[in-house]
Amino acid sequence: MSDSQSWIDRGLTHVANTYGRYPLVAASGEGCWLTDVDGKRYLDFLAGVAVNSLGHCHPKVVAALQQQAATLLHCSNYFHIPQQIELAELLCQHSFGDRVFFCNSGAEANEAAMKLVRKYSAEQFGENRFEVITALASFHGRTIGTISATGQEKVKAGFAPMVPGFKYVPFGDIQALRTAINPNTCAIMLEPVQGEGGVNVPPAGYLQAVRELCDEKQLLLVFDEVQVGCGRTGTLFAYQHDNVEPDVMTLAKALAGGPPIGAMIAREKYAATLGPGTHGSTFGGNPLMTAAGLAAMKVMLEDGILENCVAMGDYLRQQLEALREKYPFILEVRGRGLIIGMELSIEGGEMVKTALQRGLLINCTVGKVLRFLPPLTVSKDEINQMLEILEGILVEYQEKNND
Ligand SMILES: Cc1ncc(COP(=O)(O)O)c(C=O)c1O
Repeated sequence: MSDSQSWIDRGLTHVANTYGRYPLVAASGEGCWLTDVDGKRYLDFLAGVAVNSLGHCHPKVVAALQQQAATLLHCSNYFHIPQQIELAELLCQHSFGDRVFFCNSGAEANEAAMKLVRKYSAEQFGENRFEVITALASFHGRTIGTISATGQEKVKAGFAPMVPGFKYVPFGDIQALRTAINPNTCAIMLEPVQGEGGVNVPPAGYLQAVRELCDEKQLLLVFDEVQVGCGRTGTLFAYQHDNVEPDVMTLAKALAGGPPIGAMIAREKYAATLGPGTHGSTFGGNPLMTAAGLAAMKVMLEDGILENCVAMGDYLRQQLEALREKYPFILEVRGRGLIIGMELSIEGGEMVKTALQRGLLINCTVGKVLRFLPPLTVSKDEINQMLEILEGILVEYQEKNND
C-alpha cells in the first residue's frame, strides 16, 4: 500500500469528516509546487485557497518564523507585543485604516467587524439599528455569526436558528441595495470580488455607488478582503481598484504567507467603539504569527509580488480566453489579478479530479466555475505547464462528448 493510502485510511477514523478531501497527502512545498508523501509533485494553482500567495515556504517567512519561534512563541494580549505593533503600523500605513484587531482566521475577523458595526450603531443611533446587508452568493465564514451573514443557503442547512439581523441582495445591483435599506440597517458588508460564490467581479461603478449610499444613509461599509486582499487582485487591497475606501476591512488567508492569522482594520472613528474588555482573542496577534505577517507583508511590498501578479494575471487570463474561444462549453473567463474563474456550462468537479491525477491542483466553486488561485510568484513557464494539463483535459472532454 502507498504511504498516501495508509494515511488516508487512518484519517478516516479519528479526523472529523467535515471536508470532502481529495486523495492527496501533503508532505512538503516549495514555491508553486506541493509534494505528497509518495514523492509525487503537484503544480499548485490553488495555493491553500489563496493562503500561500508568496508560494510555499517563502524563505523570508520561514526565517522570521524560525527566529521568532526560538525567541518568544506566545505571551498574551495582557502585554504589548512589538511584532503586533509593527504589523499594525504597516497595515495602517498602506491602507485607509487607523487601527487593527488581530485574530486567527477570516471568520473571526468578520465576527469582529460585525461586533464593531453593531456596537457603533447602537451607541450612535440606538439599540434597534443592528441589521447588516450582505450579498447573495457571498461567503463570510463558518461560525454561527458568519454563516448567518453568508448569502448562501447551503452553509446554513441544519444549523438553525441563524443570528438575526442580516438581509441579502444580489451582488452588483445597487437598486436592490437601496431598496433593502431600512431604519434598522447599520452596515453593508461585501467582498469586493466574490471568491467562493464563483469569482464574481462587480460591475464598474458599483462599489462607488455603494460607498455613496453608505454615506447618504450613515451606514458603515465593510469589505471582506479575506480572500482577495493581500495582493491577490494585483493591488495590495482589492478596494484600491475601485478607488473606494471602506470603513472596516477584514483580512486573513495570505496575510502571514501561510500561518493562521486574521485582522480587522478600521478607521479610528469606528475602532474607538471597541474599548478594553469589548473583544479579544487568546492567540490573536501573537508574536509568532505577527512576525510571519510582518515578513510576508514586507515581501509583498518590496519584492515585486504585485507587479508579477498583474503581469501573470493578464497572461493567464489571455490564455484562458483563448481556450474559451476554442471550447464551446467554456462560457466565461473572469477575475482580477490572480483570482480567475472559468465558468463552464457543465459540472467542473470531474475535471478537478482528473487534473489532480495529472499533477495539477485547481478547484471548482458553485459546481461550474473552475477557480485559479496560484501563488502570486507564479512564473510564465509554470502557467504554461498548467495550461498544457488543462487543455489536455478540455480536449478529452470535447472528444468524448462529440462521439
Ligand atoms: C471572503 C471570505 N471571507 C471569510 C472566509 C472565512 O475565512 P476562514 O476560513 O479563515 O475562517 C473566507 C474563506 O474562504 C472567505 O473566502
